[in-house]
Amino acid sequence: MKRDRYCGEIREADIGSTITLAGWVFRRRDHGGLIFIDLRDRSGICQVVFSPDVSPHAHEAAHNLRAEYVIAVIGEIRKRPEGTENPNLPTGMAELYVRDLTVLNEAAPLPYGMEEAADAGEALRLKHRYLDLRRPEMQQNMMVRHRITKQVRDYLDHEGFLEIETPMLTKSTPEGARDYLVPSRLNPGHFYALPQSPQLFKQILMVSGMEKYFQIVKCFRDEDLRADRQPEFTQIDLEMSFVDRADVMGLIEGLMKSVFLKVMDIDLVIPFPVLSYQESMERFGNDKPDMRFGLELRDMADLAAQGAFKVFLDALQSGGLVKAINGKGMAGLSRKDIDQLTQEAQSFGAKGLAWIRLKNGFESPIAKFFPEEVLKEMAGRLGAEDGDMMLFVADRPKITYDVLSRLRIELGKRLNLLQPGYQFVWITDFPLLEWDDEEGRFQAMHHPFTAPLNEDVVKMLEGDITDRRLLGSLRAKAYDIVLNGFEIGGGSIRIHNQNLQRRMFELLNISEEDARAKFGFLLDALQYGAPPHGGLAIGLDRLVMLLVGATSIRDVIAFPKTQKAFCMMSGAPSVVEPKQLKELHVKTDIIVAERA
Ligand code: AMO
Ligand code: AMP
Repeated sequence: MKRDRYCGEIREADIGSTITLAGWVFRRRDHGGLIFIDLRDRSGICQVVFSPDVSPHAHEAAHNLRAEYVIAVIGEIRKRPEGTENPNLPTGMAELYVRDLTVLNEAAPLPYGMEEAADAGEALRLKHRYLDLRRPEMQQNMMVRHRITKQVRDYLDHEGFLEIETPMLTKSTPEGARDYLVPSRLNPGHFYALPQSPQLFKQILMVSGMEKYFQIVKCFRDEDLRADRQPEFTQIDLEMSFVDRADVMGLIEGLMKSVFLKVMDIDLVIPFPVLSYQESMERFGNDKPDMRFGLELRDMADLAAQGAFKVFLDALQSGGLVKAINGKGMAGLSRKDIDQLTQEAQSFGAKGLAWIRLKNGFESPIAKFFPEEVLKEMAGRLGAEDGDMMLFVADRPKITYDVLSRLRIELGKRLNLLQPGYQFVWITDFPLLEWDDEEGRFQAMHHPFTAPLNEDVVKMLEGDITDRRLLGSLRAKAYDIVLNGFEIGGGSIRIHNQNLQRRMFELLNISEEDARAKFGFLLDALQYGAPPHGGLAIGLDRLVMLLVGATSIRDVIAFPKTQKAFCMMSGAPSVVEPKQLKELHVKTDIIVAERA
């Protein structure tokens, strides 16, 4: 029996016609006389009825159907009897009365019920990923993902971009995570690195005159995994020649607008707002602000200095910050709630959390340290009114920002401010260099090919190389695109001038030798007429995650890995035959037991 329609397509207009459907047995209800089956395929569900009056034979056989059996049925579409329609289902007005049933395949008893899948526990879901992917939510996620990549390709093609593949077996790239290495059999003792991104190759494609490149490409990074991070993930990677920041940003805005319109039917307002890194840190405490709500950080140093609270004064004395946010409507919190909030702040790294609540005046163990006038100014600065609670953190800048930015999100959740919707923001003017305490040297904040702002070039070329403050103040032509508090993409205008590139390596304390060993092929290429160029990469998985409203990146990747970078389904990574290792000239001194 060959199906001629999809289950989810059946409508009232089909009533009276004879149709063949095929799919999986989702639910089965035996009502004595009649047996009902929800038949499911990718398009949705159609109710299928086995009646002894229509076919005693099929009705008899239907008794043996079990969950996830694969069947084909042929029969007449009838209107559901009055009162039994299901308005929640697109096919809910009709049902198919089976004349003929074919069992195409049986299914073993399931490890968990399809309807309890969402609660089955992720380990079980990942182990039986084929079952998990049958769930309508997961199929929806895959469909949205497909539509996004399709739209990305259409849009970029229309804009004149060429999709060009770059090698997976390559050299280490400068993104700064740990590499996944692949031993080379033909070159004993040598290793390929899987790309952390196509960064070097896409720049070379610009030297090659390709003008506009893109690729939807797998990238590999061996780093600590989180809800929005996978060891292998997908980038929408692109690079353009003869452009400056505004061109790349404008293109990405156009791309996002077209994707949202085509996939979500949402008409985004462009251009997106732009914040400098500095402003983002000061107002939100991080460089990926969720712009769907306020609760902004305010600087309280000048006011703290007018009081006698030792914690604040000590922090300021030692070069730290005193910053605060307004817990809107939180004056009613009990002491226990406040203690819990304090513990939360401490778990984020704070030493404590000072609070002042506004309840017919100022109420706080620290209120006594400040003149009434100063308390009023604090409230004014935070826009705090009666019923609110001001929350303060005093610490080193990094901790103050980090704790308050996390507290801000936490309060945003509690106060129900993370409303549905999509708020994009660009973060620009990142520092070019970032001091690395551990290594005692500067690191490139983005990567070593990122160009400085025009107005900082002279400082960069002629400044004192030992002046940490000066070097720390150099800004980059880099930009991140942030959506609802997630960094979904980042990029920069690159250095195409050799002097500047040499100077960059000097500032990073990378010797010419080292630079050659690592990036020699790019440096070579840059000598032969490199056009000005720049680009960006979007994290496709993160973008899809936000578009479908998933809370984990794993829900939008067909076959993801666990926190330990393990594939529950295939069992990768696994031990291999000693013979294989020998061929690869690899020795390991770890005896691995079978995985539990
Ligand atoms: P970057 O390192 O910022 O830039 O990566 C670009 C985007 O990729 C996504 N991303 C990830 N998604 C899931 N899991 C991960 N482990 C992961 N790591 C990164 C993020 C991020 O914004 N070559 C540069 C781009 C350029 O300069 O053009 C690059 O790779 O959404
Ligand atoms: P203490 O002086 O330790 O009793 O602290 C008084 C209040 O200040 C308590 O609410 C502490 O949680 C809070 N506190 C302590 N250290 C800090 C800090 N570094 N920043 C903000 N508040 C703090």
